[in-house]
Amino acid sequence: MLSNVINKIAYSPTMKISAEVKKLLENGENIIDLTVGEPDFDTPDNIKQAAIKAIQNNFTKYTENTGIFDLRKAIANKFKNDNNLDYSTDEIIVSTGAKQTIFLAIQSIINDGDEVIFSSPYYVSYPEMVKIAGGKSVVIPTDEKTGFKITAEMLSKSLTEKTKLLIVCNPSNPTGSVYSKDEILKLSEVIEGKDIFILSDEIYEKIIYDNFEYFSFASASKKIKERTITINGCSKTYSMTGWRLGYAAANSEIIKAMAKYQSHNTGNTSSISQAAALEALTGDQTFVKHIKKEFEKRRDYLHEELSSIENLICFKPSGAFYFFPNVKRFFGKTFSGKEIKNSEDLSLFLLQNGKVATVPGTAFGLDGYIRISYSTSIENLIEATKRIKESLSLLK
Ligand SMILES: Cc1ncc(COP(=O)(O)O)c(C=O)c1O
Repeated sequence: MLSNVINKIAYSPTMKISAEVKKLLENGENIIDLTVGEPDFDTPDNIKQAAIKAIQNNFTKYTENTGIFDLRKAIANKFKNDNNLDYSTDEIIVSTGAKQTIFLAIQSIINDGDEVIFSSPYYVSYPEMVKIAGGKSVVIPTDEKTGFKITAEMLSKSLTEKTKLLIVCNPSNPTGSVYSKDEILKLSEVIEGKDIFILSDEIYEKIIYDNFEYFSFASASKKIKERTITINGCSKTYSMTGWRLGYAAANSEIIKAMAKYQSHNTGNTSSISQAAALEALTGDQTFVKHIKKEFEKRRDYLHEELSSIENLICFKPSGAFYFFPNVKRFFGKTFSGKEIKNSEDLSLFLLQNGKVATVPGTAFGLDGYIRISYSTSIENLIEATKRIKESLSLLK
């Protein structure tokens, strides 16, 4: 009955888990939800006011398909100021969330059989979007040894004549790893001069710690910039996940292609969200500093706590708001006659026994790990770590 494309793809696994947690919460269970993929802060007031003003001023009609000029100009300025990248307004597109922007980019460059390289653990939507476009995912598994990052050598070994696109999630969801300038330059050396595009997903760009200096992939060289589609948006930086505003910068040929698809798909992003995004990008940036500081405090707390748990190997993230601890040493252990065989079993055990919700690594294409989001209050994190410690100590 249904189309082949729909039968080929899976429902977003994190959404499935969030729905399960929601159900338990609705049943009155005292669950601490560490599956959250969005900042737990309210959208700043100046941004909300800009949206209210837009409605009152009847800025409520269709806009240009690629986004209003002023917003595209503000985005171009953002790239100049933050990343020292020059883009004209024709090289920018605004979409309905970064997820749509990534989708448009993949649809615009991938043909049947083209290979798309990315690392695992990966952002859940990459393989499904590649499938929808008829492409083939070439997944490079990573672990703590390389800080969950692809090295030049790993990339080089994965290239074939069919490689069309490299996707880099930087900072990474789910590991929180961040590529240094040197690491990006080494990766770019492997692909420079080849007929390969880069999709650099920089949605967590502003949530980085330890005074890390962020280096955007497109800054690697002029040639690399020509072939890079940089994805960003307002969701994480300004706690605007529900407003659905993502954007991309790339050469005008690619942006035109993405715009063509978008014109028959959603058309423009909500005019109200665009007015809000304009304020987000051009208004006061205190909020961004505030959430970064707050997340860094939580990361430090959680790192100390998780590192003290026997048998849990805890990689310290440099960005985003997730931990991705290695739980393999719990495999083979049992509780009440039930054996933990994989990360799904462990996540389920933590949910049922400790009333703490996490996401199993399998959702991100890598078993042996769980994702713990610290987008929740420090009080919740204190209680959650207590519960996790108690539960894990029961596994023998
Ligand atoms: C790595 C990554 N890229 C893209 C997105 C999508 O962002 P948006 O909510 O703007 O669609 C997310 C959201 O969780 C993400 O984690």
